[in-house]
Amino acid sequence: MTRKIATFFLKTYGCQMNELDSEVMVGLLKRRGLVQSFDESSADMLIFNTCSVRDLAERKVMGKLGMLCRSRTDRPIIGITGCMASSKKASLFSKLPYLDFVLGTNNIGDLNAVLDDVLSGKEHSIAADDVFHDDVDFRLASREDKVKAYVSIIRGCNNFCSYCIVPYTRGREVSRPIEDIITECTHLASEGYKEITLLGQNVNSYGKDQASWNIRFHDLLYSLEKIPGIERIRFMTSHPKDITRELMEAVRDIPKLCEFIHFPIQAGSNRVLKKMNRKYTAEEYLEKIAMFREIVPNVALGTDIIVGFPTETDEEFMMTYDVMEKVRYDMAFLFAYSTRKGTAAERWDDDIVREVKDERLQKLIALQNDICSQQRQKILGDTVEVLVEEVNFRDATMLKGRTRCWKNTLFPGDKSLIGSVQDVKVHSYHHQTLLGEMCEARDPFDL
Ligand code: 5AD
Ligand code: SF4
Repeated sequence: MTRKIATFFLKTYGCQMNELDSEVMVGLLKRRGLVQSFDESSADMLIFNTCSVRDLAERKVMGKLGMLCRSRTDRPIIGITGCMASSKKASLFSKLPYLDFVLGTNNIGDLNAVLDDVLSGKEHSIAADDVFHDDVDFRLASREDKVKAYVSIIRGCNNFCSYCIVPYTRGREVSRPIEDIITECTHLASEGYKEITLLGQNVNSYGKDQASWNIRFHDLLYSLEKIPGIERIRFMTSHPKDITRELMEAVRDIPKLCEFIHFPIQAGSNRVLKKMNRKYTAEEYLEKIAMFREIVPNVALGTDIIVGFPTETDEEFMMTYDVMEKVRYDMAFLFAYSTRKGTAAERWDDDIVREVKDERLQKLIALQNDICSQQRQKILGDTVEVLVEEVNFRDATMLKGRTRCWKNTLFPGDKSLIGSVQDVKVHSYHHQTLLGEMCEARDPFDL
């Protein structure tokens, strides 16, 4: 029996890499004539682009799918894509009998083929390879944002941090040829995009899997800098062991490179770091930060931290707290450890009880909130450079954008300024958002 569908609903969980993969899938589906719907209760096909990085992320998807199947009496096509698809593969069909297809992170280019299978009456279809084939045309991505765009530069991860499922869901590192990246960024600039964020699990590994290219990450940055129209370049994520002096100098020397670096420490105790297989000590990490601040004095730093890693003692947790106090991050993503199946840390008991993990998390959240409000207090009266992204959805007289250091900023202004860079004098802040007034307008077309 062949089936016909007209609309699809796609929900994304997890990181920026998943967001970009979703944009590519939406582009592929629109190209075959399907219409994107934002109503999961009526769309003909539902796709869930999933994340496996923490237990909670997986439970959310499973809960959602269970609920949907109870609430929908018709029978939409249902697909699971992304990290859960890569890690659980065909076993998902037995857990979720109403599931039609499974598409792994390395197979987004196979979406149409898998969908053809299902529409032509095949009971199930799956594509979930362990290695990424560099055959996706990212220019097909259908982007909601018209000012900022994600650009994939390297997929996969070779680091095998002991807690992390990513090397198993995204496979080994595969760098994208520099010509492809330049072509995509030039195309984005021609479509009016002003900011690109280069994505990879470890962008600092760029080029290392392709020795013959003789290209390192900072070389790529110097090439992208030359593309007219692109005003800002960001990148994430950086592994502290791989961040180089050359990269820090690139941040200093390339005006388009924003001085905001995501530089995850994960834990402050050397014993825990070793058990996490992070391959640096807290001292080495702090030395790199000192070097970075010497080279780029106004560099803003972000981090990821895991509390409650197996066997982490109170004293060891306090070492993490101390690092946070010392470094004073501009942004911190704080997580409670959860065991991921198939990782090296699975062999250790998840012995830190929920209450202790929560208590540790709350301590770090309180510290970070404190640091952030002090930082915002210090910005009052300063003039910051804001890339105007959109009209504020709550108040159409206000424009919304981000500073070079990723701070959300609101100020009164006309929507014709969207896509331009403006100077804003900060007079106050509300929660995390800076509030200000625009200085004399820079010509929006004089970029
Ligand atoms: N438990 C908790 N947090 C985790 N992360 C990765 N794996 C786990 C896990 N098993 C966090 C790390 C990583 C971020 C993306 O997610 O901090 O940097
Ligand atoms: Fe996971 Fe570590 Fe790779 Fe980051 S560097 S994706 S934490 S294995």
